[in-house]
Amino acid sequence: MKKIITQLVLVFLVLSAVAQNSYNIIPLPKKLEPAAGSFSFKKGTSITITDPSLETIATLLADNIKTASGNVIAVKTGKAGASGIVFSLNNGLEEEGYTLKISSKKIDIQSKTAKGAFYAFQSLLQLMPPQIYATSTSTAQLTAPNCSIEDAPRFGYRGLMLDVGRYFFSVDAVKRFIDLMAVYKLNTFHWHLTEDQGWRIEIKKYPLLTSISSVRKETMVGHYSDQKYDNTPYGGFYTQEQIKEVVAYAAKKYITIIPEIEMPGHSQAVLAAYPQLGCNQDKMYQVQTKWGVSNDVLCPREETFTFMQDVLTEVMALFPGQYIHIGGDECPKTQWKESRFCQDLIKKLNLKDEHELQSYFIRRIDKFVTSKGKKLLGWDEILEGGISPNAMVMSWRGTKGGIDAAKQNHDVVMSPNSYFYLDYYQADSKTEPLAIGGNLPLSKCYSFEPDLPELTAAEAKHVVGIQANVWTEYISNINYAEYMTYPRALALSEVAWSTKESKNYENFKARLKGHMPSMDAMKINYSKAFLKQ
Ligand code: ACM
Repeated sequence: MKKIITQLVLVFLVLSAVAQNSYNIIPLPKKLEPAAGSFSFKKGTSITITDPSLETIATLLADNIKTASGNVIAVKTGKAGASGIVFSLNNGLEEEGYTLKISSKKIDIQSKTAKGAFYAFQSLLQLMPPQIYATSTSTAQLTAPNCSIEDAPRFGYRGLMLDVGRYFFSVDAVKRFIDLMAVYKLNTFHWHLTEDQGWRIEIKKYPLLTSISSVRKETMVGHYSDQKYDNTPYGGFYTQEQIKEVVAYAAKKYITIIPEIEMPGHSQAVLAAYPQLGCNQDKMYQVQTKWGVSNDVLCPREETFTFMQDVLTEVMALFPGQYIHIGGDECPKTQWKESRFCQDLIKKLNLKDEHELQSYFIRRIDKFVTSKGKKLLGWDEILEGGISPNAMVMSWRGTKGGIDAAKQNHDVVMSPNSYFYLDYYQADSKTEPLAIGGNLPLSKCYSFEPDLPELTAAEAKHVVGIQANVWTEYISNINYAEYMTYPRALALSEVAWSTKESKNYENFKARLKGHMPSMDAMKINYSKAFLKQ
């Protein structure tokens, strides 16, 4: 009897010790077994790596520990059996996967690639006290709760888009956006670089794109219905050197950048500098100053194709990723209907109407992109007239475009506006700063299920992932962009990474609450509206 009581007391002690440990990892790992006790990072703690490819990540961890605690942690090469913190390679794991085993004696991190080790590093930081994110030196006692984690993502594409056309975001702001994506294991940054309201990327062959197309004479302020303007010129662009710098910066965080160059719609800024590419070559085009969809679109002349191919040639040289996004959305056909050139071309090519003319435009660009060894990506409108087999579709008008694309064997990124447009309000509009509209609380974001009943198992394999979009008509600075992005990007990250079976909003919300001190330590300007919802 005494023995049983002793055992019960022991079990109780272990359970309460485990209960004191918290594991607020977002996105939720595939498997996490809690355990009692914790690992203490002390003065003599060292990090061992078994392969040189792991040195950068080990050094990152050592740097964080040094800033947070003042302790200098040595990084050395050695065997997996070493004590302290050990990073080693394990070919049996998935490409982005890792295992993280924390005991009072040792932290054992295994991964197939450095990328997996980077994700293990992110999980470890989330388990540590918030001071681990400190940017100025502190003397925190650092610990990590014992546990055993086996992790790998559900989807290979986990993305966020930032629109830098409506408002321009500096290189530092973009780097900050990328920094935070990496914390939550997002791996694709979609850089929306051109818009009616501004062209943001230097193209050496066409200098007027930066001297003219990147600046608008004024900007709409307040609600669209107010029709008010600020009477102040606004502009900005990235030089090719800056683009290279951001691409390299993102690569260090295992984030691929997909550039977007819009065509044939959302191109009014191009026409302000190169009116010969429009349907009305005599028109005084200007860079758009108000929001909404412009009727001033590119005309499908040979000169336009040459121009866009030249632009894409420079863009492709800057971005090593496989995908080039060419927009393709929201191209009003008004001017094509009124254009003698377009109507003659429709007849000559034996096309049915202006919609088929748009397909002709996209297919020509698709051929060009494909011939250069890259893959075309576009909004779901590009599906309307047939595209090359390796082109990918980004479904934004709900999931229908994505479902159609998957059924036609195209890869798909699901980015349905009603779940993932982060310019929508996340709480009652009366209590929030001005936004474009809509109603998208955190729970709605989290509720998106990419496994759609309309798709067979084989078709569903074409859904490569999900993305949320930060359109910026009403978001003029990075601080506000962060507010609109967080914590909703965490919901996106969990839907993209964690298993379908583990999805549970209340559990997510509880972890998010526990993770808030870490977000505060990172100085993330996140919305707390979800606490009251
Ligand atoms: C879009 O929202 N026009 C892709």
